[in-house]
Amino acid sequence: MASRSGQPSWKRTALLGLVSLGCLLQPAAAVKESDFKKCDHSGFCNRNRKYADNAISQGSSFISPYEIIPESASFRDGQLEAVILKTINDQEETVRLPITVSFLESGTARVTVDEERRQKKDIELRHNSRARKERYNEVEKLAIVGGLTLDSNARLAHQDKSHITVKYGPSSSFEAVIKLSPFGIEFKRDGATHVKLNDRGLLNVEHWRPKVEPAAPVHPPPDGDDQQQPLDAEPPPVETREDETSWWDEFFGGNTDTKPRGPESVALDISFVGYEHVYGIPEHASSLSLKETRGGEGQYTDPYRLYNADVFEYVLDSPMTLYGSIPFMQAHKKNSSVGVFWLNAAETWVDITKAKASSNPLAIGSKTTTNTHWMSESGLLDVFVFLGPTPHEITKDYSQLTGTTTMPQEFAIGYHQCRWNYISDDDVKDVDRRMDRYQIPYDVIWLDLEYTDDRKFFTWDAHMFKDPIAMGEKLQESKRQLVVLIDPHIKNKEGYSVFTELKANELAVRNKDDNMYDGWCWPGSSHWVDCFNPKAIEWWATLFKYDKFQGTLENTFIWNDMNEPSVFNGPEVTMPKDNLHFGGWEHRDVHNVNGMTFHNATFQALLSRKANELRRPFVLTRSFYAGSQRFGAMWTGDNQADWGHLAASLPMILNQGIAGFPFGGSDVGGFFGNPEAELLTRWYQAGAFFPFFRAHAHIDARRREPYLLSEPYRGIVTAAVRLRYSLLPAWYTAFFHAHRDGSPIVRPMFWTHPSEEAGFAVDDQLFLGSTGLLHKPVVEKDTESVDMFIPDDEVYYDYFTYRLLPTAKGKRVTVAAPLDRTGLLMRGGHIVPRRDTPRRSAQLMRFDDYTLVVAVNKAGTAEGELYVDDGDSYDYEGGQFIHRAFRLDTANGGSITSVDAQGRDTKAIQPGAWLKAMDAVHVDKVIVVGAPAAAWKNKAEVTVQSGAETWTAPVKYYAAEQGRAAFAVIGRVGARIGEDWTVKLA
Ligand code: GLC
Repeated sequence: MASRSGQPSWKRTALLGLVSLGCLLQPAAAVKESDFKKCDHSGFCNRNRKYADNAISQGSSFISPYEIIPESASFRDGQLEAVILKTINDQEETVRLPITVSFLESGTARVTVDEERRQKKDIELRHNSRARKERYNEVEKLAIVGGLTLDSNARLAHQDKSHITVKYGPSSSFEAVIKLSPFGIEFKRDGATHVKLNDRGLLNVEHWRPKVEPAAPVHPPPDGDDQQQPLDAEPPPVETREDETSWWDEFFGGNTDTKPRGPESVALDISFVGYEHVYGIPEHASSLSLKETRGGEGQYTDPYRLYNADVFEYVLDSPMTLYGSIPFMQAHKKNSSVGVFWLNAAETWVDITKAKASSNPLAIGSKTTTNTHWMSESGLLDVFVFLGPTPHEITKDYSQLTGTTTMPQEFAIGYHQCRWNYISDDDVKDVDRRMDRYQIPYDVIWLDLEYTDDRKFFTWDAHMFKDPIAMGEKLQESKRQLVVLIDPHIKNKEGYSVFTELKANELAVRNKDDNMYDGWCWPGSSHWVDCFNPKAIEWWATLFKYDKFQGTLENTFIWNDMNEPSVFNGPEVTMPKDNLHFGGWEHRDVHNVNGMTFHNATFQALLSRKANELRRPFVLTRSFYAGSQRFGAMWTGDNQADWGHLAASLPMILNQGIAGFPFGGSDVGGFFGNPEAELLTRWYQAGAFFPFFRAHAHIDARRREPYLLSEPYRGIVTAAVRLRYSLLPAWYTAFFHAHRDGSPIVRPMFWTHPSEEAGFAVDDQLFLGSTGLLHKPVVEKDTESVDMFIPDDEVYYDYFTYRLLPTAKGKRVTVAAPLDRTGLLMRGGHIVPRRDTPRRSAQLMRFDDYTLVVAVNKAGTAEGELYVDDGDSYDYEGGQFIHRAFRLDTANGGSITSVDAQGRDTKAIQPGAWLKAMDAVHVDKVIVVGAPAAAWKNKAEVTVQSGAETWTAPVKYYAAEQGRAAFAVIGRVGARIGEDWTVKLA
């Protein structure tokens, strides 16, 4: 039973009726870890770890009992099919496991193992279960959107009774060497091994077997007779059976999991040969470079767990599961990245250990090999292997499969003002007014749970929100939006139309007995919409139509929460694993993708809100899986107002980017508790560099809208928010790249500088897209500087002062960060687009002129870009966008140019309304930081040429002084942003 501490007593009592008085008076400091399983409590995790211990302790004498039947192997059209035989019970029995190895056009390989007997449904279910008999094989339909075309150039290079070699990938430089007995695969690039499957023999596919009930106990013989045995009796049978203790019904926290299919886990060891760092597998409050999980100084003792759960007030530096799961891992060493994607939606644990070279003579290039052990409770063994070699290629290949970040509504990358709760329409209007009075920009105000009537979603509390339409229209005046909360649990209440329809149409998740599942969440007794059912998605869409969800307007968008799903009285605060979903799949099989199906349903609903209107939805989700990036943003859940949680935000958000879902942020200020002014200020400075920038607070937390701060804090927070707004053009361009190929929006050092080893574990600073802006916020109290890691030989300027920093590659540089500043550097060689007029919201800046900030590099050059579209529709798909490439060059006396970044003939594009309006948008100033004196010193003006026109623009030059670089300001430039132009210095 979850007690959500800190929640108002009346609510908790009403909801659960079980909370002790002590708890009411004293909110707990952190999550009750005992509510959640450790590996030891999880039957299959425990079994697979023991299997590993046994195999490893036997060393080379352990032989994995899996082998490919040589005659079963056939290769055709980029795909190898075969049967693996698992031999058990002292060679007496075998189990057939069909395997497919697919080689994809992108150079990705995929290994899928199923179990023949379950495929044929030739098994018996216990407890009269109505669940499906096969291993769950439909997560592909939900997670994968492309990239599955087979590589017709993949070819069989060798086949004999010991191994099969397939050459594939770019210029056939990749190789998969499939060993038949015992089964294993080595993946090579240019002749060197990078990834190995089952090298340590930990492959384990738990095949189906019937439960043999123990024989009825024999009654003891009458007194005095108990020692007597007939002389000719058979000796008692020797116990040869495996340890079955965790095979069948499992118990945890007062709940029973009936496990109708018995043990069915799949596990595999994956070794990254010569790789010291692995990243990914969010969501954990842990470091970017993942830790070892089998003990040792500073390491974890439990595997990283992926089992989406409502872990409020989560602990830091822990492999414990959180709200979302992306089973994608990237391994990196100097100049080489590889990766794997474990396509399984069941509960999963991942052990990580690192072997030093001495114990691993096979390691190539680097001293360490990272060994991983993946264990999932059910489903197929289905793993994709990426061979890189660059981090960018890994990102692209993974994104080809699971899709990229949806192009956001432009407002969504502005600042979001949220709390639990703005209590009335007057409250909302008051916040809106006060943000304006203090000239703090914001784009979205949010309504949490309490806007509803009695927690019935799609309704309004009519006393507190008397006129939601007027409220929405008021926001619309300053082009602002409203986001309202819609959760997946539907209050079980006769007369509530959403409940009635859900029930009548049979669209809810069902319990193991095939009745509508009933659990407890915010509204008390509730049912859960089953978004695995296409009919449920259709029905869900009807609820969002403007005439159905009355009180909503075109500037209303949605927040999906509690979609792990959170069930207060369920095992581990979620649904029983033996619940049933559409198609007869057990919740066990689909748990980790459940949240994504709900997020998808809401995304689809917003797409079809109004006939003939196709606008980009905005939906925030708490739970996620591989592919959730296609539907909106995520946030890191219920953190706390302390410095540790602020610091933890950075590696968590960076890791989201590595795993293909970069549109994320943490609750600014911390959800639970009351941040002191300094902490809140520092969080705003950090949050201004999160892709998703939202302040949020628990219902018990004191009000903390930025205007409530006293000076100097209020002014400093305002400046941080305004900094975000001035850089929105750079952010939007970074989102465009995330949308195009999956690139992280904020990037860690190993991703941008894959050869700079000292940066591989750095996870407290980030580059914003490809802007060269390097940011490191202060995340410690009473701290007035940050030590920033410099990954290369370029020059770096302080963003605020233009000071040239004494940097050296691979070294740290101390950057002043008094309370009113944050560590923000400009790397030489970049041009950053900005909009410098502060306004109330992003949309009010849509047609403002641009400033370009040029940071000159050692060679005297710089490059940059700007992507912009209408920020709302899908017209960009038809070419209605502006994408410029800027360049500062030294040739011919020096010039700055703007050309179409995609080489399009922009004159040939038929402009729509937005593109036409952009005709009036110009480049205002160009600021050249690090402007070489020789070229700029005596310059009073430059020539600007665009199309047939030529004119001059004034230049003001500021010589270098006291460590500050020289800079020049050209302005007003006056060239149209969408057109080609050249600024000539000579
Ligand atoms: C969950 C969310 C939190 C929200 C609360 C009430 O705890 O994580 O953000 O405020 O529910 O809806």
